[in-house]
Amino acid sequence: MSALIDPFGRKIDYLRISVTDRCDFRCTYCMDEDVTFMPRDHILSLEEIVHVAKTFIAMGTKRIRITGGEPLVRKNILWALEQIANTDGLEELTITTNGSQLYKMAQSLLNAGVSRINISLDTLKAERFYTLTRRDKFQQVIDGIEAASKLPFKRLKINSVMLKNHNDDELFDLAKFALDRKMDISFIEEMPLGVITNHNRAATYLSSDNVIEALSQQYTLTPSSTTTSGPTRYYQVADYEHKIGVISPHSHNFCDTCNRVRLTAEGRLLLCLGNEHSKDLKTVLRNSAYCSTAFGSKNHDSTELKSAIIDALALKPEKHHFNLDEAPQILRFM
Ligand code: GTP
Ligand code: 5AD
Ligand code: SF4
Repeated sequence: MSALIDPFGRKIDYLRISVTDRCDFRCTYCMDEDVTFMPRDHILSLEEIVHVAKTFIAMGTKRIRITGGEPLVRKNILWALEQIANTDGLEELTITTNGSQLYKMAQSLLNAGVSRINISLDTLKAERFYTLTRRDKFQQVIDGIEAASKLPFKRLKINSVMLKNHNDDELFDLAKFALDRKMDISFIEEMPLGVITNHNRAATYLSSDNVIEALSQQYTLTPSSTTTSGPTRYYQVADYEHKIGVISPHSHNFCDTCNRVRLTAEGRLLLCLGNEHSKDLKTVLRNSAYCSTAFGSKNHDSTELKSAIIDALALKPEKHHFNLDEAPQILRFM
């Protein structure tokens, strides 16, 4: 099957799948302490997620990234990862995690077929970690990062959301932490995602240009052509093998090269992170006929799902619209 092309001529061959809205952290820029999660029966089953993933792969998807909430708190997630990783046509299965489970799951993720892991880490100070995530799991995350770094993953990346006057004094330390462990690092401009109170996004906004300017006082940075087909703009760091990147949804729009769509945990296909356009695939999936496979078992027929995906793609907007002063648009889907 030929690749999916959106109305602006962009080839869509990358799918992000949020497997849960739940998380074991409560990062101040993402969730309130008393957040209400979706009832479990609103969420796609792992079988349904695998079915959607396989349908996308049959439609030309080459890379799938599993996200959350925190994807590794979903029960039996390794089973789903293995099913997706072993599907013909997929070139890469990756995962984005807060790192809390890696100390015990890193080896299993590698065995399941995950090739790259992006790990969120906004601070190297245990007390500040507690303030930012409201959970006392700093050492657990560090142990997880160390465990993953000893294994032959194709690539590991640290993600740090930069918040002015909260963690920007750690830019250099975070970069050094990643580079010393042969990992890349992305510094991210905060986006208006998640439903939160008591957090003034406009006040904590820090532009990637300021990040690069500050880091340039310590490192010699050269813009790099390296890309993971994602929004990160990378810089090669003199004397290091690995790279520093920035994700700048506000200061440097990257929508013209967008290659991705998202499946939310409740089965909506979200066409753009900073936009409300979406299509309910769960209903299509649950109403679709079953067909028998060659092995006598029953499987979802993909015909209606494929049509729904093609219809949804027509809704993909040209670019995201983020406004830090506005109410958040999307609920905890990364
Ligand atoms: P790879 O390029 O696959 O290595 O990963 P990534 O950096 O795109 O993904 P990751 O899950 O590590 O996300 C890093 C940050 O980029 C998060 O804050 C995401 O929400 C953000 N991000 C990823 N894709 C998009 C996108 O299409 N639009 C916007 N606005 N943000 C994105
Ligand atoms: N803005 C930007 N990035 C965010 N992340 C979580 N919430 C936000 C936000 N509001 C990051 C996490 C993780 C990645 C999936 O998204 O830190 O690294
Ligand atoms: Fe969990 Fe990630 Fe949100 Fe933090 S940013 S609460 S780790 S989903």
